[in-house]
Amino acid sequence: MQIKENFSLRNLNTFGIEVSARYFASFSDIEQARELLSNSLVKQLPILILGGGSNILFTRNFDGIVIKNQLKGITLVNQTDTNYYIKSGAGESWNEFVSYCVENNYAGIENLSLIPGNVGASPMQNIGAYGVEIKDVFYELEALHIKTGEIHKFNLQDCQFGYRESVFKNKQKGEYIITSVTYKLNKTPVFNTSYGAIDKELENMGVKELSISAISQAVCNIRTSKLPNPKEIGNAGSFFKNPIISASLFEKLKQEFPDMPSYPQSLNEVKTAAGWLIERCGWKGRQIGDAGVHKNQALVLVNYNKATGSEIFDLSSKIIADVKGKFGIELEREVNII
Ligand code: FAD
Ligand code: EPU
Repeated sequence: MQIKENFSLRNLNTFGIEVSARYFASFSDIEQARELLSNSLVKQLPILILGGGSNILFTRNFDGIVIKNQLKGITLVNQTDTNYYIKSGAGESWNEFVSYCVENNYAGIENLSLIPGNVGASPMQNIGAYGVEIKDVFYELEALHIKTGEIHKFNLQDCQFGYRESVFKNKQKGEYIITSVTYKLNKTPVFNTSYGAIDKELENMGVKELSISAISQAVCNIRTSKLPNPKEIGNAGSFFKNPIISASLFEKLKQEFPDMPSYPQSLNEVKTAAGWLIERCGWKGRQIGDAGVHKNQALVLVNYNKATGSEIFDLSSKIIADVKGKFGIELEREVNII
């Protein structure tokens, strides 16, 4: 285990922001992690756990230690007549984990294909796409308590999952390093093509018989056509959450904006599309210096070359103010701001 100093994080965040960490270390087994956390220097420092860096915006150098989680290994730990229980090390790539499950016919996460980042971060914001969230197939996770070095288990209830939320982003923020996640996948697939674009893409692909690999491929095709590839243009996916508003505010707005998208959440609440709101405020495709709003997806802020994290943050503040002014809706950032 080596602690490096003044370490560039440019290649470790998908926005491609040029910042550095005062200290940097990685670990690939639990004992190494414990050793690191009990180091007298590390004990005094602010700690940031890093996965794939695909949901982070660095607005400054990190004056503490960035610790990269590289715990690997995927294991079938149990099976019943109906389910497979698959445990993955937190440092595995999420997309490779999905591909492994699809290849082995472990069903339930095929709609979550091609989401960047690592398995360990998947419960952080209950990642979701195309009609599925990880909470639908989550079994349990193990996490190392940073202060005590003990491993604690969290079941579905403990994680308090919500839309892009979990206990790890709220009450227990910064307290744990997630070390492994176990998913309960299905032996008999339950195909979810509720997100309209999937059916259309399956038809374009000429798929006659549904399978989890066909759904995975359809999702990959849709995502590739819509979202910028961070290897080409720096970004962290959706910068904002889709706002959940009261049904009464929605009814009022609908009179003025009849095409405003709506996804009912309950009798009193409606989710609407932040991308649509941002586009209607005229921001889609706009650029301030090297910080911009993507031309095909207004929910995605991008770094065209050398934008700083603060420039991207300032752009997001301008967007929040405009959306609030035009619609009375307060957008919330999805990306973790450092
Ligand atoms: P990081 O960015 O490294 O970290 C995110 C947060 O989790 C940080 O606060 C970090 O400290 C913490 N963290 C990371 N690992 C651990 C750990 N092991 N223990 C404790 N804390 C940890 N998200 C979706 O939900 N749906 C999408 O469809 C989607 N599409 C995307 C498309 C693109 C092109 C991009 C760039 C991003 C997209 N995202 C999406 C966001 C992102 O991929 C997910 O949030 C992903 O889970 C982040 O994983 P990561 O390993 O990169 O996390
Ligand atoms: N829209 C616009 N203009 C835009 C973008 C979108 O009008 O520039 C409209 C679309 O026409 C559609 C609606 O907004 O009516 C929703 O768009 P889309 O289906 O593209 O999904 P999204 O709301 O933009 C969400 C997630 C994505 C996830 C996709 C697919 C959030 C914050 N974002 O995006 O997750 O991949 O649905 O399920 O919930 C992420 O979290 O990083 C992410 C990429």
